Amino acid sequence: MDALAITGGSSLFGETRIYGAKNAALPILAATVMVEGTCVIDDVPHLEDVRVMAEILRALGATVERSGLQVTVDSTNIRLTNVPADLMQRMRSSIFLMGPLLARFGEVRVSKPGGCVIGQRPVDYHLTGMRALGAAVEEKHGYIRCTARRLQGTTVTLDFPSVGATENLIMAAALADGVTVIENAAREPEIIDLANFLKSCGALIEGAGETMIQVTGVHHLTGTQHRIMGDRIVAGTVLIAAAATGGRVTVENVSPAHLGSLLAKMRESGMRVETGRDIITVESSRAWQSVDLRTEPFPGFPTDLQAPFMAMLTTAQGTSLVRENVFEARFKHVNELTRMGADISVDLRTAVIRGVDKLSGARVECSDLRGGAALVIAGLMADGVTHVEGLHHIDRGYQSIEMHLRDLGADIERVQL
Ligand code: UD1
Repeated sequence: MDALAITGGSSLFGETRIYGAKNAALPILAATVMVEGTCVIDDVPHLEDVRVMAEILRALGATVERSGLQVTVDSTNIRLTNVPADLMQRMRSSIFLMGPLLARFGEVRVSKPGGCVIGQRPVDYHLTGMRALGAAVEEKHGYIRCTARRLQGTTVTLDFPSVGATENLIMAAALADGVTVIENAAREPEIIDLANFLKSCGALIEGAGETMIQVTGVHHLTGTQHRIMGDRIVAGTVLIAAAATGGRVTVENVSPAHLGSLLAKMRESGMRVETGRDIITVESSRAWQSVDLRTEPFPGFPTDLQAPFMAMLTTAQGTSLVRENVFEARFKHVNELTRMGADISVDLRTAVIRGVDKLSGARVECSDLRGGAALVIAGLMADGVTHVEGLHHIDRGYQSIEMHLRDLGADIERVQL
């Protein structure tokens, strides 16, 4: 079994370029199934989820080639609209195929998606959206089948600004008949990246990044070239790791505006933060203060950085309150942090973190992607050696995390246990 062996105590220093965002690459790769022609996508990270998405596209009949960070997809010859169930189970983002396949071919069959166990994660908003666009939706034996002659533009109001549902709706509406308005849309930067990709293929989209998005359907989308935005969650994770180890790190290829709420909390805890165009530097104050935070849809504090930030708060001076508002079960890292000496209690969606002097190395196990990143940060902070197991979670979202952190001075390696 693979594990990360981390010897804590080294501060992180240096500069690092952040690779392309998983959460932008996945919907954009899914969107290529709507395009009749060749799409060249640059800065596509080497991640397990991306590999699975490429495998799904190939299984549907697309040609997918990777050369370094560039992925070329030609979906002209796609004929299948059944997403293979085994691949669908491997990641939740496979649900992104629903809107695009339905929009282009008038039918799609997917099984209910898998993914991190951080809450129930239903797909009801996606289905409500497809129904609103005129699709017949049938749910049977764990499968979802949607059919429509041609989707019809309409107004859809989301109950919650779901990132995935907003993206699925934008994609479906791009080839629908008439105008679709998405109200209470999610505003995450990855949605803007998806919209920019689709616009460069000929889609008509206004308002991406705002709470109301308007999509005017077109008949065809054509091939394009697009570069994926930098991964703000990876950047945030690295900055938190730098801060939590008393270091100073500069991340490049990430917009400070995409991490505004994290940077505000870092400043509040006493870190020095400097920003430029697509560049952020964080320098640790060494003794940082507790802060309270609540996760929220963008531009609020990202739920994906809640666990990594909590790792840092375990040794803050004072008591921090962290409220998780986006997912109902996203505190699975707490048990493991506690085993490393953290003092944390959880009541439903609120965690109370009482700062301790030091964490101590232990053998811990990831149960989800970002919780895994939190354990890595805790390992970097701790006295002694930490073994982090369950790396398949981390590898879904971080490209060779050990190499990335080692380049910044961390004592970390992948070992066989
Ligand atoms: C995306 C991100 C994920 C991030 C999350 C919130 C990708 C590939 N993943 O996930 O990293 O943590 O946004 O920023 O971009 N919900 C429903 N019904 C639905 C859809 C969602 O109840 O049909 C609920 C979810 O269970 C959750 C909340 O809405 O409690 C937000 O989920 P959503 O924004 O959809 O997250 P994802 O798109 O799955």
